[in-house]
Amino acid sequence: MSEQSFEEKLNAKVAGIEEILKEFLPAEEGYQKTLLEAMNYSVLAGGKRLRPMMMAEVYGMLGGTGKAIRYFCAAQEMIHTYSLVHDDLPAMDNDEYRRGRKTTHAVYGEAMAILAGDGLLNYAYEVAARSFETGEDPAAIGKALQVLTKKAGIYGMVGGQSADVEAEKRELDLDEPKLMFIHENKTAALIQSSLMVGAILAGAGDETVSKLEQCGYDIGIAFQIQDDILDVTGNEAELGKPVGSDEKNHKLTYVTAHGLEDSAAEVERLSKEAVSIIRELDLPDPFLEDLVVSLIHRTK
Ligand code: IPE
Ligand code: IPE
Ligand code: MG
Ligand code: MG
Ligand code: MG
Repeated sequence: MSEQSFEEKLNAKVAGIEEILKEFLPAEEGYQKTLLEAMNYSVLAGGKRLRPMMMAEVYGMLGGTGKAIRYFCAAQEMIHTYSLVHDDLPAMDNDEYRRGRKTTHAVYGEAMAILAGDGLLNYAYEVAARSFETGEDPAAIGKALQVLTKKAGIYGMVGGQSADVEAEKRELDLDEPKLMFIHENKTAALIQSSLMVGAILAGAGDETVSKLEQCGYDIGIAFQIQDDILDVTGNEAELGKPVGSDEKNHKLTYVTAHGLEDSAAEVERLSKEAVSIIRELDLPDPFLEDLVVSLIHRTK
């Protein structure tokens, strides 16, 4: 019997996440039908599904076998998707293409896209809170909820997006701590919470959770630097979103601050740091490590 390749494992895991999403997404009915369609359109457009994938992987690798993780995986992808819907709005990055399709506001109009984002964020919390119905460890679920919600909020993704919006106006003022604040919060925060929630629900101790928080920081910063690189060097058809969005918006990015070559070197350095933390955890399957390595040279 031949071993599954990394690609085969990846595809199977994406399919598994898609199943979970379909299970939790709302039925498109009622007077708010258009809103629900816009939400589902945004989530089901595809995407790499990295955050729930990392969450489920850590959970399984640390011995988790329950059902609450499914609620959290669905919730995290809804939160991530809402962040993209709002990020693409005319008032923010003003982009018309995402995950290989027209953006939500381009199809449903701005008002409905704002509401679809609101709906996804709120519904994410409804779904995550419903995980108590599994009867699994309520203390772990409570702790996981705190991490999920904090990393998405003003001390996480939303905080990072606010600094990112302001940085547009200060293109020439290179401020390294601010750049790192933006990357850590707008992007690394949700990757951190994905790894941490997986560990918390699996019953891992504080030391493991805090190692994964550091690991998520390294993966997340590397991920955003690579995103900034692809905004310059990427291929629109493959990326499924526009290139040149950062330049259009005069964004402060890792690439504008450090150039392409140093940016690529930093992606590699941070990814190796993340891998060394993953190795310390001594997980029974190399998938998570392989995933992090695969992201170093990702083209989408
Ligand atoms: C895009 O995230 C936003 C960033 C944080 C760079 P992804 O690159 O994970 O987007 P999808 O989910 O695959 O569409
Ligand atoms: C977005 O950063 C991070 C989010 C929280 C959505 P970008 O604005 O660079 O993400 P893309 O390139 O539009 O996916
Ligand atoms: Mg943005
Ligand atoms: Mg954007
Ligand atoms: Mg980008």
